[in-house]
Amino acid sequence: MRARIIGTGSYLPEEIRTNYDLEKMVDTSHDWIVARTGIVERRIAAEGECTSDMATKAAQRAMDMAGVTAEDIDLIVMGTITGDFPWPATSCLVQAQLGAKNAHAYDISAACSGFLYALSNANDFITSGRGKRALVIGAEKFSHIVDWTDRNTCILFGDGAGAVVLEGQESEAGVLSTHLYSDGNYWELLHQPGFGARYPASVDGIEAKLPFLRMEGNEVFKVAVRSLTKVSKEALKTNGYTSADVAQFIPHQANLRILEATTKRLGLTDEQSFINVHKYGNTSGATIPIAIDEANRQGLLKSGDLILSAAFGGGFTWGSTLIRW
Ligand code: UT7
Repeated sequence: MRARIIGTGSYLPEEIRTNYDLEKMVDTSHDWIVARTGIVERRIAAEGECTSDMATKAAQRAMDMAGVTAEDIDLIVMGTITGDFPWPATSCLVQAQLGAKNAHAYDISAACSGFLYALSNANDFITSGRGKRALVIGAEKFSHIVDWTDRNTCILFGDGAGAVVLEGQESEAGVLSTHLYSDGNYWELLHQPGFGARYPASVDGIEAKLPFLRMEGNEVFKVAVRSLTKVSKEALKTNGYTSADVAQFIPHQANLRILEATTKRLGLTDEQSFINVHKYGNTSGATIPIAIDEANRQGLLKSGDLILSAAFGGGFTWGSTLIRW
């Protein structure tokens, strides 16, 4: 029994914020952003448009492709750190919007690795026989936790959602492996300080900008490349494959330089590596399912292909998966 992806979907908000727009907001330039990150533009959710709304649209598109209804879904698991509320879980709101009354739903907090963590959970759920179908979602509205006066971070992030439907099948195709890691010693390098138990909500906290994300970009960069390379190699080795066997590498889209350094260290060619960071920036837990959906709809993922994916993010958390399409 394997958990197979039978449908993919994504949703990107309409509003496009270009590097030229950012030039008017902070002391930066289009050329600097492109040279350091590869990002050209990102999407920004509309006023009142929440993570659950974007997730629901992506999930509906994935279900439409899969030819299943909301009532066919046994589990909804979503990677997000920018949910509608601190609680309840945003996946419960998605469940309600979809009418997935036979599912149970929960969120996973693993930052940019959230989708791969969710996929791993759903894979275990299906292969252990606990249910037949799962909706696995990555959705984020980073635009509300970004400090739009901080040029170090505001250039990087965007909003969006992606989803896949996983189904248990007696098949050679499906999720072959998942590897997940974390190292909480690095929590401070990438985090959102407020408001939680450590820094409860306060006027002083707002003035100190605690609700906005903080990142030591340079430090994150170095560990990201090392970890993505190592965990990708582990996925290949576990399954007895090499880089030459990979049809598409679909990594977390944080920064073009991270992607290129990782691709090179893995000995993959540009043709093997799927990149869309220039269009959407870093949508955290949503980058991988959005990229999988785009690659799929472009016809780049063919039956029998080996798809490698890896992510790295706050926590630190990181992981990989190898999928037979
Ligand atoms: O999803 C996982 C989480 N995040 C990441 O993976 C992000 C990882 N890190 C990065 O992508 C990169 O570190 C950044 C893109 C954030 C920064 O690139 P960098 O090459 O590491 O630049 P830097 O932080 O070393 O800054 C170099 C210079 C600094 O000026 P000084 O101190 O050398 O005079 C910055 O103040 O660039 C300056 N700078 C900017 N200049 C123009 C920083 N941000 C900007 C900006 N525009 N937006």
